[in-house]
Amino acid sequence: MERANLNWKELSFGYMKTDCHLEYYFRNGKWEEGKVVKDDTINLSIAASCLHYGQECFEGIKVFENKNGKATIFRVEENAKRMIRSAEKLLMEPIPEDVFIDSIFKLVKLNKRFIPPYGSGASLYIRPLLIGISALVGVNPASDYLYVLFCTPVGPYFKGGLKPIKLYVEESMDRAAPDGVGDVKVGGNYAASLRVSAKVRKLGYREVLYLDAKQKKYIDESGPANFFGISKDNKYITPDSESILPSITNKSLMTLAKDELGLTVEKRPVHVEEIFDFKEAGCCGTAAVITPVKSITYRDKTVTYCEGDEPGPISQKLYNKLTGIQLGEEEDKYGWNREIPLE
Ligand code: PLP
Ligand code: COI
Repeated sequence: MERANLNWKELSFGYMKTDCHLEYYFRNGKWEEGKVVKDDTINLSIAASCLHYGQECFEGIKVFENKNGKATIFRVEENAKRMIRSAEKLLMEPIPEDVFIDSIFKLVKLNKRFIPPYGSGASLYIRPLLIGISALVGVNPASDYLYVLFCTPVGPYFKGGLKPIKLYVEESMDRAAPDGVGDVKVGGNYAASLRVSAKVRKLGYREVLYLDAKQKKYIDESGPANFFGISKDNKYITPDSESILPSITNKSLMTLAKDELGLTVEKRPVHVEEIFDFKEAGCCGTAAVITPVKSITYRDKTVTYCEGDEPGPISQKLYNKLTGIQLGEEEDKYGWNREIPLE
């Protein structure tokens, strides 16, 4: 395979045009055949409902070249199901699971020269999105939808990969409301988070650690990732909350923590004061993988988990297991990977 001429090891988590994207229209009550589009723009009515009222949801999934030179995708069925839940919550037409998976396989095959080589630390990031395109000015769900998917080669989301980051508990602003849409992957949640991240970055922290919006007592999640702590008695503890995105990475780490590392796993409301009892903490997600937390600042106190840039031993082991499975270095005994045929 002739690969694109890129500096794979230096890739950041950014956008780069590839050879094509795919577009699927839902019009007149049915999904039409997908179209391959070379240009990386879309044509929309100025009154499209996604632009005014935010009828939009998306996903993020990584494709890897594994140790044996095969292209594999991680737990894609879970993303398909989550995209359906996101669409339904915004009263959008969901993409059937088989169309979602087929579309990704097709996109990857057409852009195979952008799959980063094994060992580069990079991956091909797939971004499927669904938008309401009916021309509306009244606040109503659209009747027509566009499902677009594109891919782009990416490096680590947080610069430095496994380099620990500093979090700040910001209590004066929220990302998601109780009983709102924080548990689905819709653009509005990210728009709401921008001012919060901007504030904590100005203070010298890399990301926000959100508390539940109702009581401001329990940990929700961290920017674009779920949160976990490792207690001194070796429990993997992660928040249960109705306003956080159910992370597929976190779900996988809970399995690995329990079955591979023999830790007790607790998914439950986590009081913010518990941060002072953890010996390690981490952020986890498709883009973030595991990003160790160096310190958390809450009011006038800071707890530090990593001296220097060394991740804690449990975070490191979980990272090695997860990425080992994704890269075909470890046995995929849970059947999480699917091979994407490229010919
Ligand atoms: N939480 C938020 C808000 C996210 O955007 C993401 C990224 O998808 C995650 C958590 C992690 O989810 P996953 O592991 O499924 O990528
Ligand atoms: C992902 O982890 O895939 C995400 O979608 C998070 C994103 C905000 C970068």
